[in-house]
Formats: sequence, structure tokens, C-alpha cells
Amino acid sequence: MPHFQDTKRTLVNERQEYPIKMVHAYPSCSVGWGCHTMVGNDAKALGMTKALIVTTGLRGTGIIDTIRGILKHAGVETDVFDKMTPNPKDHEVMAGVKVLSAGDYDGLISIGGGGSTDCCKAIRMVYSHDGQDVRSFEGAFQCTKPNKLPHLAINTTSGTGSEISCFSIINHTDKMYKMALFDPNATPSKAINDPLLHQCMPRDLTGYTGMDALAHSIEAVASRLNVQSAHGQGLWAITQIFENLRESQANRNNDKAIEQMVWAEMAAAYSFNSAGLGIIHSMAHAMGGLYDSPHGLCNAIGMLDTCRYNLPAAPDKFAMMARAAGINTVGMSDIKAGEAFIDAVAELKADLGITTRFADLGLQEKDLDGLAKFAAADICSEGNPKDVGFEDMRRVFKACM
Ligand SMILES: [Fe+2]
Repeated sequence: MPHFQDTKRTLVNERQEYPIKMVHAYPSCSVGWGCHTMVGNDAKALGMTKALIVTTGLRGTGIIDTIRGILKHAGVETDVFDKMTPNPKDHEVMAGVKVLSAGDYDGLISIGGGGSTDCCKAIRMVYSHDGQDVRSFEGAFQCTKPNKLPHLAINTTSGTGSEISCFSIINHTDKMYKMALFDPNATPSKAINDPLLHQCMPRDLTGYTGMDALAHSIEAVASRLNVQSAHGQGLWAITQIFENLRESQANRNNDKAIEQMVWAEMAAAYSFNSAGLGIIHSMAHAMGGLYDSPHGLCNAIGMLDTCRYNLPAAPDKFAMMARAAGINTVGMSDIKAGEAFIDAVAELKADLGITTRFADLGLQEKDLDGLAKFAAADICSEGNPKDVGFEDMRRVFKACM
């Protein structure tokens, strides 16, 4: 057997920026048509008798009333906190904690997309830390106390994967950027992914959220954290997205495409939950904070220029993604295969009708410095395969204008 010291020398001679990986747990999840009807059993299994529902309201869908009815029938009382916006703000979280503290609730249920789930995660963290300011949880591993309440996450959009992950994204309303709160305690206790609820998504949101899931897959596979067990999930998600996203957006009655997008967004979330993200998300967080822009749309806009920026740093990963997207890469160098993948992403984006640029969302030259500063410092930039500083970030922002 080799001597321990010899082995160690071999390791330090390789450049490994993140030699120790953390593979994070994700919650059990019910998936399938009609699984939302089991929500009463799910809530009771988590010990809930009176739960606070956190949601943007999902007005016009009937989802909230339906779920409340099922819970009531199962003997679980509910109240609704819906004083929140799709990009949840720090003060909305603190208002939710106030409502939660004023009642005798023994559980939290989020219903909606990433915004509702993220807001509920943050409310739970703050409540478990006796009302500590939500801003103090920015960054990684800031929780010092265990969760006081269970969180049942009922997801309605095929994109963010928040119902699976340990990330919560909250707008810092003074500094005008999105904070990433990353902690295993943010992970919901149980998730529900019913394609029937996802089917209620409007068409434009289907495209945006699908591109968010694609961004999760791309960034997790290309990530410099190089969590190799996450590659299979990310690459499988890319295959499903290329095969189903167009159809899922074009025909909201195509059950097969809608269900495959549910599986794809979950696989993408399993992937990034451990492998991390990159500057597509750093830019989206900066844009979402300053202009309150939709997360998935920001990712879709930033995706091409960031991939072009990152390709030279991870050509082998981009070649893997090209094959996952169904591109025949035989005879191509990794760089050429990566370029073909980026072209395929551009084609997908065009087919989804996404032509918006950052300038259309309000980006002005005078804001570039602030945005570049926040994006370069965003926790997601740590996973980016290519080194990124203020000037690099500014250039990529400008390219996306
Ligand atoms: Fe995302």
C-alpha cells in the first residue's frame, strides 16, 4: 500500500480549489398527476394541526382554495399569508414572521413557485432564530439553531427547484440586490410536485422557468466545485429540457411534455443543490434586486454570453452538455462541441420567443458598475468555472444589454 504522505503529495500537486465537496440532502418528494390530493396526509405526517400558508396568492387558479379544502377535510386548519411579491423582499419575510409568531401554528406550507417557497424558507429560518433579521442569514451556513416548524413545499412551476434545494433568495431592499441564503436548514421537510398544478402556469412563465432549470443544469455541470455525482442529474435534465420545453410551452395540454419538465426541474435542482451555480445566477440576482425582473427571464438573457465567457475554462463539460442536448459531436473538438451547444441554446431561446435584453428590463449604463460589483461578490460566482472579477462581470453585463 502507498504511504499516506506519498498519497497526500500526489493530491496537493493537482490544482483542486475545492478538494472537499459537500453533497447536500434533499427532501422526500411526491411526484405525479393528482398527488396534491394527498396533502392532508402529508401535513399530518409532519405533525401539523394548524398551518400558515405562504403564497403570492395564485389568483385565478383556484389552487389555494382547493388545497385549503383538502387540508380542512383532513383536520388541518390553515390561515394564509399572501402579503408577498414574486421576488420576495426582506420586509415581507419579517412581516410573515410576525403573523406566524402571533398564531399557534405548528407548521408552514408554501404554495407556488420559487418566490413563495423562498419566502417561506426565510420565514422559517427567522422564526427559528427568534426573529433575527433575515439579512443576517445572507451567505452560507448562517443558521445556528434547528428548525422549530416543519415546512411542506407545494410547487407549481417547472423551474426553480426551490422545493428541493437549500437555497432561499430574498431581495435586500436597501442595497437593491438579491441575497442568497444557503443553509441545509432551508431545505423543506417534504415537497410535492403535481404536474396538474404545474399545468396552470401561463405560457410566458413556462419559457422563463424552463430556462431557469436549464441554467441550473448548465451551471451545476460546469461548476468548478466539480461535484461529479451531480453531473448525471444535470445532464439528464438538459436532455429532457431540449426534448420537452418547446412542446411544454407551445401546448399546455401536452401532459407528457409537462410531466417531463417537472422531472427535469427536479433533476436540475438535485444537481445544483450540491454542485452550486455560476454567474448566470449572479447576474440574475443583481438584475432581480435592482429592477425586480423575473428570475427565469434574467437567466435566459444572460445565458448565452456567460456560456461564451466560460467555455474556454471548461470545454470538456460543455462537450458533455452538447451530447446531452442531442448534438452529434463526433469529430468535433471539445471547444467546437461547446460552441455547438451554445448555438443550440440560442435556438431554443429563440423558439421560446425570448428576445428581451437587459436594456428592455431597465438596465442603463450608469447602473453597470453597481450591478457588476454585486454580481462578482454573489455567492454563486464561487462556482463559476472561469475566474470572474469586477471588470469581467461588467463586460458580460454590457454584452447582455
Ligand atoms: Fe434559478
